[in-house]
Amino acid sequence: PQNVGIKAIEIYIPSQAVSQVELEKFDGIPAGKYTIGLGQTNMAFVNDREDIYSLALTALSNLIKNNKIDTNNVGRLEVGTETLIDKSKSVKTILTTLFGDNHDIEGVDNINACYGGSAAVFNSVNWIESSSWDGRDAIVVCGDIALYEPGPARPTGGAGAVALLIGPDAPIVFDSIRGSYFDHVYDFYKANLKSEYPLVDGHFSLSCYVKALDYSYKAYSQKAIKKGVESINGDAVGTTKRFDYHAFHVPSCKLVSKSYARLLYNDFRADPSLYPEVDAALATMDYEASLTDKNVEKTFVALSKQLFNERVAPALQVPTNTGNMYTASVWGSLSSLLFYKGNDALQGKRIGMFSYGSGLAATLFSVQIKGDLTDIIANLNIDDKLTNRVIATPEQYLESIALREALYGQNSYEPKGSIESLRAASLPTSMTQMSTLDPDPKSFQ
Ligand code: ACO
Repeated sequence: PQNVGIKAIEIYIPSQAVSQVELEKFDGIPAGKYTIGLGQTNMAFVNDREDIYSLALTALSNLIKNNKIDTNNVGRLEVGTETLIDKSKSVKTILTTLFGDNHDIEGVDNINACYGGSAAVFNSVNWIESSSWDGRDAIVVCGDIALYEPGPARPTGGAGAVALLIGPDAPIVFDSIRGSYFDHVYDFYKANLKSEYPLVDGHFSLSCYVKALDYSYKAYSQKAIKKGVESINGDAVGTTKRFDYHAFHVPSCKLVSKSYARLLYNDFRADPSLYPEVDAALATMDYEASLTDKNVEKTFVALSKQLFNERVAPALQVPTNTGNMYTASVWGSLSSLLFYKGNDALQGKRIGMFSYGSGLAATLFSVQIKGDLTDIIANLNIDDKLTNRVIATPEQYLESIALREALYGQNSYEPKGSIESLRAASLPTSMTQMSTLDPDPKSFQ
C-alpha cells in the first residue's frame, strides 16, 4: 500500500467551557497567570452526563456518518485513552456496537497517559504496512476528560475526543521515520484508584516533556539522515528546513512555544554556526542544566517567535480553547493546524508532530500533505464547534466537577447533571443512560 495516512478526521469538542480569565478572578490568581503564563483561553469540561464511552461513541459515530464510511470496510479499531472506567473491558469493545454485523475488527485500548492515541495510530499504520493486512482501513479513536485537584495544575485540564480514519492513498501521509524516547519516571500518574485526579509533579513533568522532545528529535534526525530522507526538503538539516509546520501534544500552549524554541536550541547545540547571534557558550552548557535554564529558554523563544507564529500558532487555536485533551491533544492540534491554515497553504508541506505521555512515552514523527484536504477541513467545522458552546461560570464548572467526584468509582449511579447544553449528536450520553434510556446504540448516529 502507498501513502498510508489519515483519510478523515472527526473532532468532538464538549459543549461547555469555562473562561480562564474568569477562573483567574475566581481563584484569586494574579491576572494573566492562566491566560499569558500558561497560554490558555477557555477550558472545556463535562459533567456527570458524559464519560469516555460517550465521547468515543460520539466522535466515532460522527466520523462514520459524516464520511459515509462502510463499516464492513474497517478491519482495525484501536482506542487511546487514560480516562478508564473499567480495568479489563476495553472502550474499543463498546465501540463495536457501531459496526453492525462486522465483528472481524482487530485492536483494543492503548494506555499510557497522553500517548495512547499515538500508539493506536502507529499500530494501525504498521498493520496496514504488514503482511497480515487484509486490505481494509483502520480507525483510531482517542479522547479524555482531563481534570486536576484544586491547585496550580487545575487550569491545565480540558476534555475532547478525536477519531481518525487511516488507510492507503490518504492526503495526510505518514513519513516512515519516527524517533522515540521511553523512560521510567513518576511525573504524572494515576496511582490513586479512588480518584479521577492524577498525581502530578508539575515542574518535573515539564522538564520530562522537554527532555523527551530532545531525545526523540535526536533519534528522528539520525534516522532521517540514515534513510536519506533529508533530501525531500532539499538538503534539509535542522528544524526550520526539515518541517514546515508543527503539531505538539499540548499540556499548555506556553509549553509548546518553549518546545518549538527547544528544537531550534537542539540544532544550535549540534551546530552553533546556525545562529551566530547567540552566545556560543549556550551550546556547550551542561545538558541537564539546559533543560531548566531560563536564559536558554528566553533566548530561543525570542529567536523563534516569528517562525512560531507562522508555523505553530495555528495548531494551538483548538488547544488554547479546549485545554488538554490528553490522548487526543496532538491530534486536536493537527486538526487545528489543518483548519486554520487551510488546504492551499498546506499542499506538499511536512508537519513535525510530537506526542508525549507521562510515565513516560514519547515519539517525534511527521506527516506530509499529498492530497486535497477540502473535505477534511469542511468536516472539522472547528469555528462552529468553538463558538456554539456554553461558556459557563467558574461556579458552574465547579458544580460539574463535584458531580463527577460523586460519580467516580460508583457501581450504580443516577446522573444528576443538566443535559441542556449537550449537542444533539452526543445524546444519549453516558453508558448509564445508554442502558436505561436507549438500548439501541444506533441512536448515536
Ligand atoms: N501574568 C503572566 N504570567 C504569569 C503570571 C501573571 N500574572 N503569573 C505567573 N505567570 C507565569 C510564570 O512566570 C510562568 O511562566 P514561565 O513558565 O515562562 O516561567 C507561568 O506563568 C506558570 O507559572 P508557574 O508559577 O510556573 O506555574 P505553577 O507552578 O503554578 O504551575 C504547571 C504550572 C506546573 C504547568 C501546572 O499548571 C501543572 O502542574 N500542570 C499539569 C502538569 C502538566 O501538564 N505537565 C506537562 C506534561 S504531562 C501532561 O500532559 C499531563
